[in-house]
Order: sequence, then C-alpha cells, then structure tokens
Amino acid sequence: MSMSSSCLLSLLLPCLLSFVLLRLPSTLLDPAAAVPRVKRSPPLPLRFRHDGAFKILQVADMHFGNGAATRCRDVAPELGGARCSDLNTTRFLRRLIEAERPDLIVFTGDNIFGSSATDAAESLLRAINPAVEYKVPWAAILGNHDQESTMTRAELMTFLSLMDYSVSQVNPPGFLVHGFGNYHVGIHGPFGSELVNTSLLNLYFLDSGDRELVNGVKTYGWIKESQLIWLSATSRELQQNLHAPALAFFHIPIPEVRDLWYTSFKGHYQEGVACSSVNSGVLSTLASMGDVKGVFLGHDHLNDFCGGLKGIWFCYGGGFGYHAYGIPHWPRRARMIYIELKNEQRSWTEVESIQTWKLLDDEKLSKIDEQVLWRCSEDDLYHNVYL
Ligand SMILES: *[C@@H]1O[C@H](CO)[C@@H](O)[C@H](O)[C@H]1NC(C)=O
Ligand SMILES: *[C@@H]1O[C@H](CO)[C@@H](O)[C@H](O)[C@H]1NC(C)=O
Repeated sequence: MSMSSSCLLSLLLPCLLSFVLLRLPSTLLDPAAAVPRVKRSPPLPLRFRHDGAFKILQVADMHFGNGAATRCRDVAPELGGARCSDLNTTRFLRRLIEAERPDLIVFTGDNIFGSSATDAAESLLRAINPAVEYKVPWAAILGNHDQESTMTRAELMTFLSLMDYSVSQVNPPGFLVHGFGNYHVGIHGPFGSELVNTSLLNLYFLDSGDRELVNGVKTYGWIKESQLIWLSATSRELQQNLHAPALAFFHIPIPEVRDLWYTSFKGHYQEGVACSSVNSGVLSTLASMGDVKGVFLGHDHLNDFCGGLKGIWFCYGGGFGYHAYGIPHWPRRARMIYIELKNEQRSWTEVESIQTWKLLDDEKLSKIDEQVLWRCSEDDLYHNVYL
C-alpha cells in the first residue's frame, strides 16, 4: 500500500465507520427499512359495488403547498390567519371520504401549487395522503401549476403513477401521445355478475397542458391532435365490445365552455372561462365518439356549473383547496359523480344513470345542485348492444 492511499484510508475509515454505525440501528429497529418499497395497488380492475353503484369524488384545484405553513387565501378574516392552512384542505378531503366513501377519487389538476411547494414530491404525498390513508383508489391528472416546483410534468406523472392506491398512468403503452397523464380506466361489472370481465363505464384522462406561446402571445395549453387520435382510437376499440358510456377528465376548459353562459347551466358561472386561444377540435372529437356523456374540469375555481354542448355535459368541480383563490364565505367545494347500473331479472346489465351533485365544506357538508346527467333509454343508439 502506498503512503498516500493508506493516508486516505485512515482518513476515510472513521467516516465509513460512523456511516455504518449510524445506519445500523435504524435498519435493526425497523426491518421494513431494509425491504424495497413496493407500491400498494388497489384491487384491479376497478368495479361497480355489489349494490350496482360506483361513486366518484372529483377534487379540483387543491393548490397544496407546504402543509401547516401554507396559509389560506380568500377566506373570511375570522376563519383565516394563522388558523387556516393547507391542513384545512386535508381536513375537507378526509370529511368527504368519511361521509361519501367514494370508490374512486379523481384529482383534476393543480393538485399542488408549484410556487408554494418547496418539494413537489413531499407536497404531493401530503395532498393525496387522505386517499392513501383510507385506501381509496385514485387517479390524478396535471393542471398548469403542478410543475412550477421541483419536478417536471413527466416526473410528476411518473411519481403519481407510483404512489399507493393510484390508478394514474403516465401515457398509454404503444401510442406516442403529447403530454403526460393521458390514460383510460375501465370500471367493470360487480363481482359475481356476468359482467365481471366487462368494462361498463370508461374513464378517459387527458393532459390539457400548462402554458404556451402562440405567435408570441402567451396562452393556456390545449389538447393536441395526437391525444385526440389516441382518444378516438381507444373509444372505437372499446365500443367494439360494448357501447358503454364514458366520462372524461381534464384540467383546462375548452373554448366552447364560454358559450354555456347563454344556456340554462346549473350552478355558478362567476368568472371568465380561462381557456386556450387555440381550439383543437376536442368538442367535435368527443361528439363523434358518442360514448362520452360528461366532461369534468377544474382550473376556474369560481365556476362550478354544468352545461350541455352537443349532448355532452361539461361540469366544473369548483375550487377545493384553501390555498387557491376563491371568495370569502363562498364555501370550498367538491363534485360527486354517481353511476348506477340497471338491474334486469336479478342481474346487472348496463349503466342506467349518471348523476352529479356538489358538497360544500360547511358544517353540514351541504349537498347542492343535484342533477341527472344521463339516463339510458330504450331508444338510445348506444343501448345494450353487444357486437
Ligand atoms: C381551518 O381549520 C381551523 C382548525 O380546524 C378552523 O379553526 C378554521 O375555521 C378553518 N378555516 C376555514 C376557512 O375553514
Ligand atoms: C372472467 O375472467 C376469468 C379469468 O379470465 C374467468 O375465469 C371467468 O370465467 C370470467 N368470467 C366471466 C363471467 O366471463
């Protein structure tokens, strides 16, 4: 051994020793620390319950930051200040899970507010934690603020897909699709039914992007052609088996949502629709697919309405998070989507109805604006056709 290397070793040895000694007790005390971490997955595929129902909780715009240190925005002075933080958002989510026992939670973007989150992964873990804690399957997509912290959109979607009880996916295998978080989740028939291996309700998740420059002018993102090609192809393939109804989820509204102002929408339309200046034809794609009955959006926290365009409902979730902009005394809110199967001759057949309502974060968790979005009718073109 040369002089210099033995010298180096004598310097390094205490370091190495202390490293081993420091590590040792933690591995001895906590045997789990030595075992690689494996994702806890919900039972898949997701399926309707034995009572023929499936309940989705939509959580729009949590805007989570650093937890207890991140203050609320736009709350009444007597309820705010040091007493109000991201923990109020967490408390709201817990109350909803306890009260509604959803079968799936969909986080429709701006889950974290990047510029208030010191560590994106930590912030996401905290924001989503109630779903994990109650072992509720959940799906997430990205908004325009999620990537403003320490992770890119690709990293965020990968992380979301690897978290416990997540059914989120980065992108569909075998397709080159723009963005991150374009995927399909099928909801199968209940255990013990004939339809145990059949998807009776299809959920499509799409990445509507963040911000872009168009001819030098800043605008919001939009759903690109490659995404629409994947979407129609997937819908076509699914409908070769069964004309099951579908729901779609993305963050940024499409330009046509503005036109709902002139219709009899249900709920609040309290701010301008902040969409992209580019119209990529999402509405005509959805209309031509035929299976999508409802689209669920986030982004504009002061809007919580549902309105119909070309026979498809477009519904906002309404602002959920306390660190997100809102209106004092206008309670933070969430949307429920309730899907029921038809029971014929004592067996489940197909989706009978899709309903929705909102729940407010007030004392009673008030239920408002209940409405039926879709009902399967005898003359429905897509009625119970097995090909
Ligand atoms: C936030 O939670 C605290 C503690 O539970 C409560 O005192 C406060 O009123 C809540 N703020 C709002 C706006 O709900
Ligand atoms: C569903 O799929 C499983 C596994 O492939 C099969 O064993 C079962 O018979 C199928 N059930 C029905 C009702 O098709």
